[in-house]
Amino acid sequence: MPDPDRPPLETLRPLLRVRQIRQFTDEAPTSDELAALADVARWSGSSTNTQPWRFIVVRDRDVLLRLHEAGLPQTRSLATARAAIAIVLPAGDAISHAFDEGRAAERMLIGATNLGLGAGIAWIMPGIRPLVGDLLALPDGWFVRTLVVVGHPTKEARAPKAAPGKARFPREEVVFDGRWPAGRGPKRE
Ligand SMILES: Cc1cc2nc3c(=O)[nH]c(=O)nc-3n(C[C@H](O)[C@H](O)[C@H](O)COP(=O)(O)O)c2cc1C
Repeated sequence: MPDPDRPPLETLRPLLRVRQIRQFTDEAPTSDELAALADVARWSGSSTNTQPWRFIVVRDRDVLLRLHEAGLPQTRSLATARAAIAIVLPAGDAISHAFDEGRAAERMLIGATNLGLGAGIAWIMPGIRPLVGDLLALPDGWFVRTLVVVGHPTKEARAPKAAPGKARFPREEVVFDGRWPAGRGPKRE
């Protein structure tokens, strides 16, 4: 149970520390760690519990490097990766699948952080989907848009990328009470 005297944001602060990691040490995540992350992903909620996904745990360094080369710059985090989990979805543009995919990806990022690892998203652009399909031996009718790259972050990767409190828009710019504030345009100035 959370400590009732503790401010809620302090209890939730570990979630604020779940950030995109793009550089990893040579130490690979263990099979158990990767299996646990895949379990966390498959236990994510999905639209009407359809569980549209399949997950491929990729540890073959040669495959990781080929994915890296094929998908630059989005796949730059794979340069040092020792593992990634591909979220495989049925072809089509079901918006619910994209939503489900995002939930599973974020859970893996949170799970990795909880394990003392780091993770990040590498987005597979549509043009290289066939190549990625070949590399991962996907059957027809399935594709990968998101790779969750997992590993032990380097010291540099753990370091903040922005000044304290500056990595996100200020709360008052994005969180409103009850209604959209009068006079506030839809665009950030
Ligand atoms: C839908 C989506 C796609 C993303 N694609 C990539 C990507 O292809 N490559 C990458 O390095 N980061 C990717 N990111 C990570 C974002 O760049 C990152 O979440 C954002 O810069 C905030 O980083 P931070 O949480 O470390 O502050 C993606 C994030 C999301 C939500």
